[in-house]
Amino acid sequence: MNASQEKGGIFFFTNLADSHQAFNFYLKVCICILAGDCSITRISNLQPTGPMLKYTVFNEKGGVGKTTISANLAAALSLRKMKVLVIDFDPKGNLTNYFLEENPIKHKRLEDVFSPDKLEGNIIEVRKNLHLLPAFNGLYAFDKTTYLSHQFSGMDDYTYIVENLLQRLRFDIIIIDALPTFNLLTLNAIQFTKYLLVPVSMNYWALRSMIELDAKVFNLTRVGRIFKIIPNFHDKVTTVSRDILEELRSTFFTAVTQAVIPRRIALEKATGASKTIFEMFPNDSAAVAFKKLAREIMIQ
Ligand SMILES: Nc1ncnc2c1ncn2[C@@H]1O[C@H](COP(=O)(O)OP(=O)(O)O)[C@@H](O)[C@H]1O
Ligand SMILES: [Mg+2]
Repeated sequence: MNASQEKGGIFFFTNLADSHQAFNFYLKVCICILAGDCSITRISNLQPTGPMLKYTVFNEKGGVGKTTISANLAAALSLRKMKVLVIDFDPKGNLTNYFLEENPIKHKRLEDVFSPDKLEGNIIEVRKNLHLLPAFNGLYAFDKTTYLSHQFSGMDDYTYIVENLLQRLRFDIIIIDALPTFNLLTLNAIQFTKYLLVPVSMNYWALRSMIELDAKVFNLTRVGRIFKIIPNFHDKVTTVSRDILEELRSTFFTAVTQAVIPRRIALEKATGASKTIFEMFPNDSAAVAFKKLAREIMIQ
């Protein structure tokens, strides 16, 4: 029994993901045959007709590319004509910077945004098909405020607030860029989305920290499952990147995406200019990788 089998979480989910993916693929092939067109491009261009896809982008490590992946993946999906909502749950607002020069809700309090009648008024269409709930200062107060209000109301589960708030929204896909910590806001995000996308950088700690993270996600959230592990900072000329990618795949199987995000100066430059890779270097290999990633995660 290998490490992922012992830990249970990812191993179980990998099989689940496989069967869902196989079913979805089968369905799309059938549609395609009925439509009389069997080109692969045509298959991958079909829009999912199922329920809204929801993901929290999470890793307990900072600097692994959570925000970069949230922004560029959201952009790639919107270019595929999906109606995308991306949510910045890091009050520092790095994700927000990608899409807005001025954040109009930066100074809002929690109750000015996290309330059923005000929420939608704070969502901004920042690009075609791409909507953003920007970061705002009230997020700093989320953990404390939630804890106190629930103490007084006698409720003992604090993790449904975001779900109750967001479940009425209608998008093809919602992506939440989370903080690198299991705080109450993150637990709320995971309760809502159920699935996680986990970027990992190509270093020797990646494998061990993924096994630990898998166990924690399962133990702390109960509902959360790692949907995909996304290799980031991949450098095809180094053996380290190659070895680590191989190890990840042999441990976590199809939970590791086929799309691998290369280490590219272009991505750093785009971040520096607060632009997505598609806006600055649409032909760069990183842009190609994000398009591939978008195709993969459209099937849940
Ligand atoms: N594949 C990559 N190639 C080059 N730079 C990257 C790549 N992925 C992320 N970066 C850079 O690494 C830094 C940290 O990424 P970020 O997405 O902010 O990490 P996190 O959100 O996990 O803290 C940013 O400056 C970003 O531009
Ligand atoms: Mg970040």
